[in-house]
Amino acid sequence: MPASFLLGLCAGLAFARAHARRDAAKRRNDENDENDENDRDGDGDGDGDGERRPVVVYMDGCFDTMHYGHANALRQARACGDKLLVGVVNDEEILRCKGPPVCDARERADAVRACKWVDGVIEDVPYEVTDAFTDELFAKYGVDFVVHGDDPCLAPDGSDAYAYPKRVGKYREIKRTEGVSTTDIVGRLLRLGARAMGEEVEEEEKEATFCTTSSRVAQFLGNNAPPAEDARVVYVHGAFDVFNTGHVEILREAQKLGDFVLVGVHADADVRARRGAAHPVLNEKERALGVLACRYADEVVIGAPAKITNDLLTTFNVSVVVAEDEDPYEIAGEDANAVAAARGLYRRVPRAREWSALSVAARVMENRAAFEARNARKTKSEAAYYAQKTHVKES
Ligand code: CTP
Repeated sequence: MPASFLLGLCAGLAFARAHARRDAAKRRNDENDENDENDRDGDGDGDGDGERRPVVVYMDGCFDTMHYGHANALRQARACGDKLLVGVVNDEEILRCKGPPVCDARERADAVRACKWVDGVIEDVPYEVTDAFTDELFAKYGVDFVVHGDDPCLAPDGSDAYAYPKRVGKYREIKRTEGVSTTDIVGRLLRLGARAMGEEVEEEEKEATFCTTSSRVAQFLGNNAPPAEDARVVYVHGAFDVFNTGHVEILREAQKLGDFVLVGVHADADVRARRGAAHPVLNEKERALGVLACRYADEVVIGAPAKITNDLLTTFNVSVVVAEDEDPYEIAGEDANAVAAARGLYRRVPRAREWSALSVAARVMENRAAFEARNARKTKSEAAYYAQKTHVKES
């Protein structure tokens, strides 16, 4: 084929493409002009009522053993708009598509609802984001953007699960938080459960991929203001390991007792000393982020002393102390809350739900074979993700 013919063909194609681009741009401008005419108040929502319609963002997921990676995804999703709706997949669908969930649908929805960046929860959503369901999100819930982490999310037939919102320009991607996942936590719980059953468990040989930066802590603190001078500060302290609905309940109760909830997240060494060498499941920085993401917590003390001190009560101007555990525990032969009790500040709030790292590990162990199989599968895909990951800027 002569070179001049090839050059001519390329020039022709480039011209046609440029023409098509101009047409598309003109169509978009015409549509915008039409909207502008209706949008008399100029707020961009196409009407003239003087109020800007909030941008509604939707994120869905399983949110099993809700962790700070999920919370960070919700934080970033919320930053893509003004209102965040979260779809929580039901148990049957998770069982069918991924394997058994650790937490049931109610626990998962409650944990998501307690996250401070969430404005509403839609329960019982399908695992597969079908076109019909996406249309329902747009029409019924007024969703403007569907958001998901930058990990590939495939439908069962191998196609892109979010192809439709992407095609219509209603998809936004956020950066997945590295170093934590349900798979990773289930792995830690399997090891805790096996140790509790007296099995020899080797230390995990895995490169750490999560770093707690000061900006991450600041992001999780968000708009939380410091306590006012005359605020009634409620201090709640404990391990807050594998943050869950039991923790949410006690923080909610604490909020009712004052104006500012300060949460003491015990140091790893103290949790280990109290609960045993296999604890905690998450380290103190991870546990602190889990607490900070909760709408009922105003501030955390990272690595707080397990035993309340006079100095701590004075420094933080504490009015009430609420303990996480129903049964008071002793540190070096003394009640951990003795100082608060002596100052008449100690309040015991009954536990609404029984939950501990050990009880959740027991759930995993009850279904051990299924969780081990699921983790073996997921660990491979997570390793593949880390091998190919590229930098995506967080919003
Ligand atoms: N997500 C994230 N960072 C993580 C884990 C999850 O940003 N470490 C995001 C996912 O990308 C998704 C949302 O959180 O947008 C809900 O995730 P989920 O459906 O619970 O499932 P997974 O992606 O499998 O998360 P995990 O591995 O923790 O179960």
